[in-house]
Amino acid sequence: LVVKSSLIEPDGGALVNAVVPEGERAARTLEAEKMVKVGLTKIDVEWVHVISEGWASPLKGFMRENEYLQSLHFNSMRIGDAGGGSVVNMSLPIVLAIDDETKERVGSSKDVALVAPGGDLIAILRSIEIYKHNKEERIARTWGTTAPGLPYVEEYITAAGNWLVGGDLQVLKPIKYNDGLDQYRLSPKQLRAEFDKRQADAVFAFQLRNPVHNGHALLMNDTRRRLLEMGYKNPILLLHPLGGFTKADDVPLDVRMEQHSKVLEDGVLDPATTIVAIFPSPMHYAGPTEVQWHAKARINAGANFYIVGRDPAGMGHPTEKRDLYDPDHGKKVLSMAPGLEKLNILPFRVAAYDNVAKKMAFFDPTRAKDFLFISGTKVGTMRTYARTGENPPDGFMCPGGWQVLVKYYESLQTE
Ligand code: ADX
Repeated sequence: LVVKSSLIEPDGGALVNAVVPEGERAARTLEAEKMVKVGLTKIDVEWVHVISEGWASPLKGFMRENEYLQSLHFNSMRIGDAGGGSVVNMSLPIVLAIDDETKERVGSSKDVALVAPGGDLIAILRSIEIYKHNKEERIARTWGTTAPGLPYVEEYITAAGNWLVGGDLQVLKPIKYNDGLDQYRLSPKQLRAEFDKRQADAVFAFQLRNPVHNGHALLMNDTRRRLLEMGYKNPILLLHPLGGFTKADDVPLDVRMEQHSKVLEDGVLDPATTIVAIFPSPMHYAGPTEVQWHAKARINAGANFYIVGRDPAGMGHPTEKRDLYDPDHGKKVLSMAPGLEKLNILPFRVAAYDNVAKKMAFFDPTRAKDFLFISGTKVGTMRTYARTGENPPDGFMCPGGWQVLVKYYESLQTE
């Protein structure tokens, strides 16, 4: 019996699965051992993971020049024949940089083997193409600025090589991190199976990289209410923290996962209708450009509704005292983005602490003075609370979740 899934179609019609079937693993590994080796950074491995499970479908490997140019200039990728084909969203270049020495070694090889930082042979890149890595152009077009101090850029682009190598990926075995959190790293295929099992008639995704405060919860619970009003009977929430690279002052993944489970335990979100899983992508902090990637990847995971609030994937400008991006642009861009037409975008106003109602509420500009902006993203604010032993106002975050953060910030002070 084949139960037909009613979930949204992945981009390109079928999920990419670049993991070598178990039966072929030994043969492919032998083959890889004879190839020229290309060393990966930690971030590259995260991208290997992302590509291998089909989050970036229909992308089958690190981008070749054609794909890179489409991503960089159109934030999307053409599929099918150029004239009549359609377009899927692809706003971040997913590329692999190599240096001059590696390029020399690769020479005219058709395929290369990819080696993780610890020395493990993890993948093959087939039918490769090598092209120039114009870092300034890539940074300027992706972030809209080349200001010094951009996370990801500082760590992984500035020091990277002057060449990019693209090709089709074959991963020798599923990527694991052995950090006690692998059971949360559900692939798009596993998530789809889970949504089908639960007979979801709508799936709404919430991307986050910060602890869940009651403002976030307001967005998620309000979405559920709206979906029920629209007539859906069993909407399922995908609470989907990002698990790859984040900047140094963001709360680390293990702490966030613990905090998220408290939020479910404390009943802020309903465990019966929520799936918590880790999104393996690294963060760029590229605002409206990046939020398209965040949304696109969730289509592939089976979500047909996507929540977006204030300043998604945004941060403060690295050298000036202002937000890097207009906090409203993320949701505006998402609602218009090429290739995201089939995804229902749910834009939300900013939530802040309402001193009158004593809870997180949607900001009402007619009584602006009643609102306190305690941002979950401004770690500084929460750190100050934790350092002074002071509690945030009642109703900002559930007590269990808050305790996890207090413990974390205390551990930072004793370091
Ligand atoms: S992000 O980098 O993953 O976007 P964050 O974890 O802070 O950062 O945000 C997760 C989601 O919640 C995003 O859609 C963001 O726009 C939204 N959000 C965060 N804080 C608020 C807020 N105070 N009001 C409304 N939306 C918010």
